[in-house]
Amino acid sequence: MTWRKLFLLTVQLLSLKTCNAESAIRDPSIRIASLLMRVTRKLDTIYKLQEEVMAELDEIHSLRKISEDNGEIKQTIHEVECTGGVYSFDRASSFRSANETVAMNNGHVVRLDDILYGYDYLFEQKHLFSAGSWLGVQSQQDPWDLVAIQQLLWDVKPKVIYDIGTNVGGSAILFAHIMSQYAKPREALIVSIDPKDFAVNWDAEAQRLCPRCTAVADNPLWGQYVRFVKARAVERSALAALQEAISTFGGPVLISVDGWHRYAEVLKQCQVLSQYVTIGSYIIVQDTKLDRFLRKAGPRRAVYDFLKNNTDFEIDKSREAFLYSQHTDGYLRRIR
Ligand SMILES: C[S@@+](CC[C@H](N)C(=O)[O-])C[C@H]1O[C@@H](n2cnc3c(N)ncnc32)[C@H](O)[C@@H]1O
Ligand SMILES: *[C@@H]1O[C@H](CO)[C@@H](O)[C@H](O)[C@H]1NC(C)=O
Ligand SMILES: *[C@@H]1O[C@H](CO)[C@@H](O)[C@H](O)[C@H]1NC(C)=O
Repeated sequence: MTWRKLFLLTVQLLSLKTCNAESAIRDPSIRIASLLMRVTRKLDTIYKLQEEVMAELDEIHSLRKISEDNGEIKQTIHEVECTGGVYSFDRASSFRSANETVAMNNGHVVRLDDILYGYDYLFEQKHLFSAGSWLGVQSQQDPWDLVAIQQLLWDVKPKVIYDIGTNVGGSAILFAHIMSQYAKPREALIVSIDPKDFAVNWDAEAQRLCPRCTAVADNPLWGQYVRFVKARAVERSALAALQEAISTFGGPVLISVDGWHRYAEVLKQCQVLSQYVTIGSYIIVQDTKLDRFLRKAGPRRAVYDFLKNNTDFEIDKSREAFLYSQHTDGYLRRIR
């Protein structure tokens, strides 16, 4: 109705002006008439759309009322539609402050978990784990955890880092860069382990997502701080390299578990490698968030089961400083 009023007023005003200017300029009045017709048609469309929107909002309102009465409103709120898929609210979130809510001015109330898991979902769908690089080397470290890990490495200053899952060297070069700020070459070492060649990326999409990325071997830090071993993380040759590094450089010793994120492998790696971690240092079990995507036991379950039988470690939530972490409950600190 306000549009109608506005329209009539506009017509009145414009026609007054047209009358006054009348004989002086003929062409403008023709133009004005045609513009008025176009404006009329558009105002009609807006008016109709406005009515449609009002009707739809009414329907949403009454449907919400019904589902609220049925006790289903919680499910509606906690079910977030993402591009190409829907995920269901999962109570087993381990994000810090997951249950805190934010009220939007459009009436939506969302849990922090909805926001973070929604982001996580798109991150996976869009292959963003291959969008990052460090010093030009494609790195599959998530940007939020990357900062958290930098903070952790600076605090612990490990002399030996066991980097499970080299891929193309992205985590190794990141760790080496930070290491280079507190240790000279041959004072500390990253033992980087992968059964596949570091020249080949496991993710075929990586080249498209990081077109400017360069080979890790071109970076001098690779030669100075990294020893690559082509093996599996708990294979004899890999463990021998770790033991040699520890006897040469001492501690602190830190383990990054970032191979394939399968429950049994991660559990085994934690069980075999925990003995090498020094007190005050960490096992970082990466991608614990995958349990929720895979809807089955993955790295996060492996962490919980590992901790059941190992009281030397505890989950350090303070390392999830930004609330969001892909390694939620995965920062394991050795306490004794
Ligand atoms: C998620 S990617 C690692 C990404 C890398 N850490 C980074 O930040 O760029 C996983 C890698 O782990 C390797 N891998 C799989 N099983 C492994 C194992 N048992 N030991 C060591 N590496 C493994 C795979 O070949 C693959 O390259
Ligand atoms: C969130 O609430 C659920 C249900 O009350 C609870 O089981 C869960 O532990 C809470 N999560 C966090 C991170 O506080
Ligand atoms: C923990 O120890 C118990 C008792 O020795 C054993 O039955 C169980 O399989 C162990 N669990 C894990 C995950 O190692």
